[in-house]
Amino acid sequence: MSGGTTLVLPQCAVHRDPRWWDDPETFRPERFASNAGWPEYAYFPFGGGPRHCIGMRFARMEMKTVLATILSEYTFELSSDPDPDLIASTNLKPDEPIRVKLHEHANEAAQ
Ligand code: HEM
Repeated sequence: MSGGTTLVLPQCAVHRDPRWWDDPETFRPERFASNAGWPEYAYFPFGGGPRHCIGMRFARMEMKTVLATILSEYTFELSSDPDPDLIASTNLKPDEPIRVKLHEHANEAAQ
């Protein structure tokens, strides 16, 4: 490898590698509730090293806050294909829009 070579690390492959992840295709966010001893770069959504994402802590806090706020008021119901084809670009993304229906929780204060 020579200077100036561009290296692209395939997050989508590493993040689905059964060597590190049990049942990797299953959406199971609770697997991240404890640091179960995976190798340091088995999970690197924010990159790594000296140029790693400067917004990581902000993004994590924002996601938790927004999700907690929305989920306290609404339930999501998937209404598009649950298993869409994926397109590899900067991020791995579905080849069609993900559509969800929002159901507002019953307003307990009004009962
Ligand atoms: C889910 C949200 C986000 C993800 C997944 C993400 C991911 C990444 C990744 C993979 C990199 C490249 C790291 C590397 O080269 O190793 C990066 C860099 C960067 N991100 Fe984020 N990011 C997110 C949110 C944010 C936010 C909210 C901000 C700012 C408020 C931000 C600011 C930056 C900056 C400035 C860099 C460049 C750092 C540098 O080159 O020194 N990111 N991000």
